[in-house]
Amino acid sequence: MTRSVRVGLLGCGNVGTALVRLLAEVADVIEARAGCRVEVTRVAVRSLSKDRDVPLPPEALTADAASVVADPDVDVVVEVIGGIEPARSLILSAFAAGKHVVTANKELLSTLGRELFDAAEAARVDLYFEGAVGGGIPLIHPLKESLAAEQVARLTGIVNGTTNYVLTRMTEEGLSFSDAIAQAQGLGYAERDPSADVEGYDAAAKCAILASIAFNARVVAGDVYREGIGSVTREDIDFAGRLGYVVKLLAIAELDDGEIAVRVHPAMIPGDHPLAAVRDSFNAVFVEGTHVGELMFYGRGAGGAPTATAVAGDVVDVARNLVAGGRGVGCTCYEDRAIRPMDRMESQYYLLLDVVDRPGVLAQVAGAFGANRVSIRSVWQEGTGEDALLVIITHRGNEGALQSTVHGLRALDVVNEVRSVMRVEGAE
Ligand SMILES: NC(=O)c1ccc[n+]([C@@H]2O[C@H](COP(=O)([O-])OP(=O)(O)OC[C@H]3O[C@@H](n4cnc5c(N)ncnc54)[C@H](OP(=O)(O)O)[C@@H]3O)[C@@H](O)[C@H]2O)c1
Repeated sequence: MTRSVRVGLLGCGNVGTALVRLLAEVADVIEARAGCRVEVTRVAVRSLSKDRDVPLPPEALTADAASVVADPDVDVVVEVIGGIEPARSLILSAFAAGKHVVTANKELLSTLGRELFDAAEAARVDLYFEGAVGGGIPLIHPLKESLAAEQVARLTGIVNGTTNYVLTRMTEEGLSFSDAIAQAQGLGYAERDPSADVEGYDAAAKCAILASIAFNARVVAGDVYREGIGSVTREDIDFAGRLGYVVKLLAIAELDDGEIAVRVHPAMIPGDHPLAAVRDSFNAVFVEGTHVGELMFYGRGAGGAPTATAVAGDVVDVARNLVAGGRGVGCTCYEDRAIRPMDRMESQYYLLLDVVDRPGVLAQVAGAFGANRVSIRSVWQEGTGEDALLVIITHRGNEGALQSTVHGLRALDVVNEVRSVMRVEGAE
């Protein structure tokens, strides 16, 4: 006899609404996959007076989220409220009541993941979170399960749709940063206050979660070095194009010598790199593994409907586990690894210098690089006289040495301004 698994949903906004509709729309398919019917029986929201176009009786809705978690007729709790509290306390209460939890909450997982996973382990229940990174792009399951036997060396992602949209418009239409942001806001791709996206906080949270899974060690958002796209200028994007590069906000996680290096910053990547073709609000994660080689996961990294497919997939997994009486793969952060400080990371660099145009300038500039053992790959002079600019690309080198070089360049009287410094990734 087929039993039914009852879902208590916390939050019915973009993701929650799409999830309720999806689970109703494909109920028969899910029943065939899960071996039981899956139905949303209780839904917690903040405001009961909002109009919600969901196939549920009005009495299913409540403003008392704790009552949904405590309801003995709820088997699985799906948390799509977002933020730290009350999401954290509600999830912990669900575990204490022996209930499995599915969440899409990157902010919570990337800060308090350990507490949540420890509590899930103690209660011997599942905590699934495919929707937390990459929206509709399957990433967590492939990294945790399909690639369980792989040693991931590096993971490079475009994991924030808002900033990718802005950089694409700046590149393809020549828009300024502020015009591109305004366009993104008009289309609903950017929040009214876009700082979490623009300053890289959202990408840093996702980077921490991906690194934790790829390298089997706990990484929190605070471990991730972070620079946003606010300092990227049209001039940088133009020079990048002329040099054969595209500017992207990258989330990079590397395992080197047993240490984890994690960072989010704008970077130039070669125009023929697979990530260069990821335009507009699309996301992608490029994985480099020791045995599997290169893989890329591409798709809609946000949006209610794409994210709901990821959450629904987790609900099906939990339902199958409930039917079978087992559990899924729990926390895989069993290694203890150090986080490498930023000044010990390595990259190539692009520098744009405003210099005086007179004999010997190049030698002095080259001297500043040489003094810090940063090797120059190419130099290109643009303009003459007062408008002279030097565009320099280095070989791969150490971040601390590069910062010392920049310091040295600023002290030279032949350098009017170090106008721009940007990392170059995926080229050497
Ligand atoms: N949207 C995306 O594209 C996307 C993609 C990936 C992951 N996520 C993650 O998914 C989660 C939800 O995102 P969302 O875009 O769906 O957010 P949202 O549209 O703002 O929806 C949040 C929902 O939570 C409800 N809520 C807020 N406080 C509550 C409380 N104290 N008790 C009960 N309900 C409460 C809200 O109720 P009202 O409706 O009454 O205001 C709303 O229904 C977040 O963790 C987000 O990071 C979102």
